[in-house]
Amino acid sequence: MLIKNIKRLVQVREEGTDWVSGADMQVLPGIDNAFLQLENGKIAAYGPMDSCPQDNGPEIDATGRLVLPTFVDSHSHIVFAETRQGEFVDKIKGASYAEIAARGGGILNSARKLQQLSAEELFIRALPRVQEVIGFGTGCLEIKSGYGLTVEDEIKMLRVARRLGEETPLTVKTTFLGAHAIPVDKTREAYLNLVVNEMLPQVAAEGLADYIDVFCEQGFFTPEETTKVVEAGNKHGLTAKIHANQLHISGGVEVGVNTGARSVDHLESIGEAQIAALRNSNTMPTLLPGSAFFLNNKYPPARQMIAAGLPVALATDYNPGSAPAGKMAFMVSLACIKMKMTPEEAINAATINGAYAMDVLATHGSITVGKAASVIITKPIPDIAYIPYSFTGDVIDKVILEGELIFSADR
Ligand code: NIG
Ligand code: FE
Repeated sequence: MLIKNIKRLVQVREEGTDWVSGADMQVLPGIDNAFLQLENGKIAAYGPMDSCPQDNGPEIDATGRLVLPTFVDSHSHIVFAETRQGEFVDKIKGASYAEIAARGGGILNSARKLQQLSAEELFIRALPRVQEVIGFGTGCLEIKSGYGLTVEDEIKMLRVARRLGEETPLTVKTTFLGAHAIPVDKTREAYLNLVVNEMLPQVAAEGLADYIDVFCEQGFFTPEETTKVVEAGNKHGLTAKIHANQLHISGGVEVGVNTGARSVDHLESIGEAQIAALRNSNTMPTLLPGSAFFLNNKYPPARQMIAAGLPVALATDYNPGSAPAGKMAFMVSLACIKMKMTPEEAINAATINGAYAMDVLATHGSITVGKAASVIITKPIPDIAYIPYSFTGDVIDKVILEGELIFSADR
């Protein structure tokens, strides 16, 4: 397939480009008036139109349109049983996220519902959400467990997540988040033992997870407990991605850095010490502005982090409690509007840095020869800044995943 007359081909990178950090986040390389050639599901060639090859295959005329790599959403809880708009109304009337959780709502509410469903029913409910986010331009998605909270239900969730990766064109990585909340019928100690001694070995034996996660937060899991679970996960070959500093400075950032976590996610509460800890680490700070938006929390200090030389990634946190939507372009808008990131920084955060955060950089996150032919073709728009500017706007015309046209706005 040949895409011709592209107004601007965005996020063009040399093979082997790593995450982008600090001042480099402002650089979003591209080619004006470009072509892009896709072959066997991969990017075969690109360049300015005056070097466009002849091709006998199908052609798309992208006059007036931008082409960019599909978004990489490195943090989601997209497998869940039911939405929680009742709690949303409670929150409007004044209840806090922590209060709802403490009275058995929140994660425990989602767990009760999920425990009643078969794997098949859970899959059927998650599938339309996955199809929806593909239409929003997402090509890679990380999916967490954490609404099972029993051995069998955590396994069930992860099998469903794996199946979504197998039976849809989305590239999926899965994360075992048994340590998401403590079920009411267990003590902390008993539940942590269950996570470490029963769940983890079974998850690992079946190859159900790529990562291990813990909700490190006051009222959930302490830094010591987080370390214990992460180290147990590491022994089974799972690298950490940690829920850190969502509601308080939780110690989760330090645990992440010390255990070589792939990412630490949320970071609404972060100080100089945590930013310093992240410098010279291999851990991607991942910001989830959708949950700050939905919970009316403060936003992570992205400018301060970038000024300190850090990279940042953006993800949706799509989940029924704190971020019930999965539109990456809206995360890009929130990053610009609420965190004062520039459009270039936000697109880098939503593509190449997200690809680092879920370790798909070898195949996704940029327009690079040999990477997956997974691209977004926009509607006719003036430039890249228009994407965050037209917040929640329908800017996407087509989504191609691994060379296949999966979504088209006119269908
Ligand atoms: O990332 N913080 C923990 N987990 C989710 C929320 C889960 C829920 O409320 O169901 C989050 O915000
Ligand atoms: Fe989350």
